[in-house]
Amino acid sequence: MISKLSIRDLEDVTYRGRVVFVRVDFNVPIKDGRITDDTRIRAALPTINYLRERGARLVLASHLGRPKGKVVPELSLKPVAERLSELLGIDVKFASDCVGEEVDRMKEELRDGDILVLENLRFHAEEKKNDPEFARALANGIDIYVNDAFGTAHRAHASTYGMAVHFDIRLAGLLMAREIEALSKVRENPDKPFVVVLGGAKVADKIEIIQNLMPKAEKFLIGGGMAYTFLKALGHKIGNSLLDEEHLNLVKGFMDESPDKFLLPIDHIATDKLEGGEVKELSERDIPDGWMGVDIGPKTIGLYRKALPEKGTIFWNGPMGVFEIEQFSRGTVEVAKAIAQVTQKGAYSVTGGGDTVSAIHKAGLKNSDFSHVSTGGGATLEFLAGKELPAIAVLSDKN
Ligand code: 3PG
Repeated sequence: MISKLSIRDLEDVTYRGRVVFVRVDFNVPIKDGRITDDTRIRAALPTINYLRERGARLVLASHLGRPKGKVVPELSLKPVAERLSELLGIDVKFASDCVGEEVDRMKEELRDGDILVLENLRFHAEEKKNDPEFARALANGIDIYVNDAFGTAHRAHASTYGMAVHFDIRLAGLLMAREIEALSKVRENPDKPFVVVLGGAKVADKIEIIQNLMPKAEKFLIGGGMAYTFLKALGHKIGNSLLDEEHLNLVKGFMDESPDKFLLPIDHIATDKLEGGEVKELSERDIPDGWMGVDIGPKTIGLYRKALPEKGTIFWNGPMGVFEIEQFSRGTVEVAKAIAQVTQKGAYSVTGGGDTVSAIHKAGLKNSDFSHVSTGGGATLEFLAGKELPAIAVLSDKN
């Protein structure tokens, strides 16, 4: 079990008057300069408030998008700093770069409780390269290093890895600690029965999770685009549905090994054209030529609902169909509601990934309807695949 030193493990007085660097994951969706989902900003608030209340001088750093080492004005963190200002009701300072003399001066001028948000780390190619000089420049004028960016924990970049080694103590923020705790429970110690619900388009993204959780999980409920490769592997007709030829044999191997563990769709919503095509309900597993499956059908929804335990553990990642299109969203919405219902009855439910979180909101549910909603996408999948995430590994151990 991973046990990392968190900001709660140091005495309150440690933070007063100290410049505390917090790597946050403010990689939020922005459209026309407006933040369309501020979940990740809100998720960092407990750490920010905890440190401010103890007199820390905060320097917050994040990436936004993939600007490839160039200044891309649309990927500026300025709107994020403004949103944070609104959420906290205080004036949040913003630096137009993340390293350099001007930034160092701004760090020096901070007073207890102040917050300085740095500009997008990835405007410098050195961030992703984990460049030692850049890491040293980030660490300039910083007394304490905290990482609260679980969503970026699978990246060994200058801010998540290289700069950490400049500090004797490297602390997890409260979000990071909560993510590690919830996902470790699923990965290492799930209460039985343990059911894994997997969807989304790509089989490749889920292979390592299946391999890692196979010995622990009682059932895998498979939906979304990936389900058709599973059906094909069982010898069913899948028409024009998504197929991952490359992983067909591997998927067949999973089902040969544990035939009873996999529940696959028994009916479908299908169309002959994704946009503007004819749509019909197919009450059988086989999908005729010229048609593609785009959502699980009503019988499958019922089957999956029954398979969700009222006690025990559920991990869910990935939509059950093309849920962005209203007509094909029912399977995802109903499965989301069913997981929320069993959570209320006592099941421990963990879910995560950008699409999955959008699906939760589309279903009219709140994050609090689940035991834990992870802020990670790739990081969550890699954690559950059993991998060591570099930005977690570099944090100080508790003992
Ligand atoms: C994410 O959104 O998954 C994280 O912020 C990591 O972003 P990245 O895949 O661009 O490194």
